Amino acid sequence: VEQEALAALEGAKDADALQQWKSQFLGNRGAVRALLSQIGGLPPEERAGFGQGVNALKEKLTAAFDERENALRAHAIAQDLEEGQIDISLPGRTRQVGGLHPVTMMHRQFQKIWADMGFQVFRSREVEEDDINFTALNMPPHHPARDMQDTFYTDEEGVILRTHTSPGQIHAMRTLGENGTKAIRVILPGMVYRNEQITARSEAQFTQVEGLAIGRNIRMSDLKGTITEFAHRIYGEDVQVRYRASYFPFTEPSMEVDAECFLCGGAGCRVCKYTGWLEIAGSGMVHPNVLRNGGYDPSEWSGFAFGMGPERMTMLRHNIQDIRYFWSNDLRFLEQF
Ligand code: PHE
Repeated sequence: VEQEALAALEGAKDADALQQWKSQFLGNRGAVRALLSQIGGLPPEERAGFGQGVNALKEKLTAAFDERENALRAHAIAQDLEEGQIDISLPGRTRQVGGLHPVTMMHRQFQKIWADMGFQVFRSREVEEDDINFTALNMPPHHPARDMQDTFYTDEEGVILRTHTSPGQIHAMRTLGENGTKAIRVILPGMVYRNEQITARSEAQFTQVEGLAIGRNIRMSDLKGTITEFAHRIYGEDVQVRYRASYFPFTEPSMEVDAECFLCGGAGCRVCKYTGWLEIAGSGMVHPNVLRNGGYDPSEWSGFAFGMGPERMTMLRHNIQDIRYFWSNDLRFLEQF
């Protein structure tokens, strides 16, 4: 058997032939197995010696097989090289590398500036309760201000997609406030959803960065000083900031904050609505009802809140004329940043 096997192995010239040889000699129905099965017919005193002999044969054939297999493989590689199938002088294929989304870059810059001013990031849910998104923010059912933010509803009664990051104020106060005993300084970045007509200027999804500061002596001058400082850090020291009286149910008084629109051509810039100003935030002093809903006693605690729109600010910075580019996943747009 040994000689026959070794001779056949010499004759195996490729991987198929090798496999065939392996099952013929070493397989479950192979020659070596057949030898072993003869052991039962031998006189008992010969069995041990015979068995050892067959095992030695098996090891020898296995080693010979491995050697032959390696030799054939090396030969195949040598042949490939010789025939030039592997051209080692070809340049490598470059791998596509992803980049940060322009809005992500804006968020990172926001987070850095707010962190420098002592604001920590607090993450809040995108799927929210109507009670928290509206009612706890001083908008009871049927309050007219609910119509300002067209809502995506779910099949679940009372469960919606948040229309702004402000419900996170309630979660932050309840989680971090320890029953209205601790001061808070947080920002709440994240995606919000509105069931709106999609146009160059408005999307059904966009991000906001909410800010919330709660303390014992927080006043409107703190709000103005903090937001103005933020605007200066993000746009430059000499950019004008203005505060316009406004209305939000969850702040009183309320103000909208505008920054001078200079980066994409002042009043001629589409994102600045031809006025020369870009609205960068809604803001105000936290309404007493909202403080109460967060667990604070409004006679002892006060605070300010704001909400900003990073997409608008990214449009201004890069002179982007259509907000739909951000979430439509067009690589030609995304690769520019
Ligand atoms: N939530 C408001 C909006 O989405 C913005 C805002 C936040 C206003 C915080 C005041 C205070 O329009």
